Amino acid sequence: MHFHATCTYNPVPMGIRAVYPGSFDPVTNGHIDIIQRSAALFDEVVVAILRNTDKTPLFTVEERTVMLENAIRDLKNVSITSFAGLLVDFAERIGASVLVRGIRAISDYEYELQMALMNRRLSNKVETVFMLPAESYSYLSSRLVKEIALLGGSIHGLVPADVETKLCSKFGTK
Ligand code: PNS
Repeated sequence: MHFHATCTYNPVPMGIRAVYPGSFDPVTNGHIDIIQRSAALFDEVVVAILRNTDKTPLFTVEERTVMLENAIRDLKNVSITSFAGLLVDFAERIGASVLVRGIRAISDYEYELQMALMNRRLSNKVETVFMLPAESYSYLSSRLVKEIALLGGSIHGLVPADVETKLCSKFGTK
């Protein structure tokens, strides 16, 4: 079947840089799935770890950076960094026009909608794009992974191998 366009499409002059922000404490296979999908959709993806937070993280920003870097080694258009302050300010500063957020279940939506609309109010230069991870990761979260590791359960297949090792050694579990 032939497709007849009624107008011509010129190449997009500039690529789209997307930011994928989060705590990543630690990165899970669900995060990696979203990074891979974003990397296929956008020209460049900047994974940005939040530095200033009320939550006390399990891993330092440096530890989280190393784990993320190991996970994205094969993706040429993805980089890892950290940021403090407002997300929209950071996105504007690095010339990113898209904020990527992963939505697992409808329960995530309310909080994500609130944040996306607030970010839209704060800046008209960035657009939030919600992405869905594979269904097999729809129940996965960093918080649950930490809890299971702390209590000695298996987190195999939920996080990359190096993250599994680091979690077990943090908690002294196998
Ligand atoms: O992985 P998380 O913890 O759900 O990520 C939350 C994050 C980092 C996206 C959010 O807390 C954030 O953007 N913080 C930066 C401060 C900010 O911009 N706050 C206003 C959000 S409307």
